[in-house]
Amino acid sequence: MHLTNLFFFILLSFSHHVYSRFNTSVIPITKDEATSLHKVAWSFKVRQWDGEPYLLLDLDAPFTWKDCVIKHSDIPCGLEEGCRFPLRCDTTLCKEAKSYINPVCPSLNITDKYGCSICAVTPLNPVSNVCKISQLTTDLIDLYLTDGRNPSPGPNQPFGSQFVLSCAPSSLLRSFPKDVRGVAAFSWSGLSFPRQLSFLDVTGKIGLCLPSSSAGLGVAFLGEGPFYFTSNRNLDLRSILSYTPMVRRSSKDLGYYVKINRILVKGTPVSLPALKGSYVMLSTRVPYTVLRSDIYKALVASFSKATGGIPRVSVVKPFGLCLKDVGGVPKIDLEMESGKVWSVSGENSMKRVGNGGACLAFVDGGLKVKDAIVIGTFQMENNFFLFDLVNQKLGFSSSLLGRGTSCTGFNFTEVGN
Ligand SMILES: *[C@@H]1O[C@H](CO)[C@@H](O)[C@H](O)[C@H]1NC(C)=O
Ligand SMILES: *[C@@H]1O[C@H](CO)[C@@H](O)[C@H](O)[C@H]1NC(C)=O
Ligand SMILES: *[C@@H]1O[C@H](CO)[C@@H](O)[C@H](O)[C@H]1NC(C)=O
Repeated sequence: MHLTNLFFFILLSFSHHVYSRFNTSVIPITKDEATSLHKVAWSFKVRQWDGEPYLLLDLDAPFTWKDCVIKHSDIPCGLEEGCRFPLRCDTTLCKEAKSYINPVCPSLNITDKYGCSICAVTPLNPVSNVCKISQLTTDLIDLYLTDGRNPSPGPNQPFGSQFVLSCAPSSLLRSFPKDVRGVAAFSWSGLSFPRQLSFLDVTGKIGLCLPSSSAGLGVAFLGEGPFYFTSNRNLDLRSILSYTPMVRRSSKDLGYYVKINRILVKGTPVSLPALKGSYVMLSTRVPYTVLRSDIYKALVASFSKATGGIPRVSVVKPFGLCLKDVGGVPKIDLEMESGKVWSVSGENSMKRVGNGGACLAFVDGGLKVKDAIVIGTFQMENNFFLFDLVNQKLGFSSSLLGRGTSCTGFNFTEVGN
């Protein structure tokens, strides 16, 4: 056995025995106010050390990447920073990574000269849509596990657990917030966090709760649960979820899709026969929900009618309808394929734009969009979601604010295990 394989074999065996008591991993989420994007610390630590990078939380990325350089060394590597183990081209995870090449990415032909000793891949910046060539490697990540109430140190501390990701040149970071140095994949891909961490008995389920400001920590869970917030010690968040089927549209599509029956504003269906059966994607790459033009126009017309009594203020881009007062705006109900309703209340439908004004926080994507509806982070904040990759269904809570809690409700005080 190769020395590095032996090393990881020992780490993995160790984690199996000591930590089988915990089935769920917990990850703090921070909001970047300037871009409204959400990020996780690379180490998944609650308290970061200075300068530790964040990664953009991405439900649609094929693999995790961060700004790093692979140093080839003949000296056996220990656990020091920068000591990485490149993957060969014939490994399963390399083949998995290569099966999702985005059309905007450069051809990997030029790497042929390196042979099979490396796994050339093309990490993508989802904000700028720029792609670079790099290679897959192995790094160590610290994980926290949870009984559902508090974090406890995960396996293999202080070293961390093995994780496959791609390095990327620093030039790929352009257009990211300053402290974001890569992307964390939470998609359907076999290289995403819920899939790669299966040695923890993490069962292909992602709990996600995005915070609405940078003032508190939101939370992601990988695993079965339970999930408790401090506001109600005995309420397992799983018990408030409604479910609808969640599909993977094709083997090349990595995002999470659900289908919608209809949209209602103040209980009245938006008149749009073509809507039923449309795919709805949940995306952490866009701040506001993007609707195909016909859906957008119909929604704005219905919402405008339902808020007829509220004075207007000048429209602020990229929105199309702005009101003087957000008190008492009607709910927007999304009736899902299962018949269950995701209710979007004012906090998730109206973006404050100053001077007491607020705009309907949906944007017109034009007629030629790939997906009829792409739900953005503003509509997801302070809602709890459970992406169940195994049973292919999405659990959703609607706004937690109406239940006296929010996505900053998890108790991040560390306890021993
Ligand atoms: C973790 O999963 C195992 C096997 O699925 C189960 O027996 C055990 O009770 C679970 N532990 C907790 C704390 O839920
Ligand atoms: C890659 O190289 C092969 C032969 O070297 C060529 O046939 C193929 O078209 C190239 N692919 C791309 C995407 O450039
Ligand atoms: C958070 O957890 C710690 C450790 O269990 C506990 O002492 C503290 O009271 C909890 N805080 C809240 C607000 O529940």
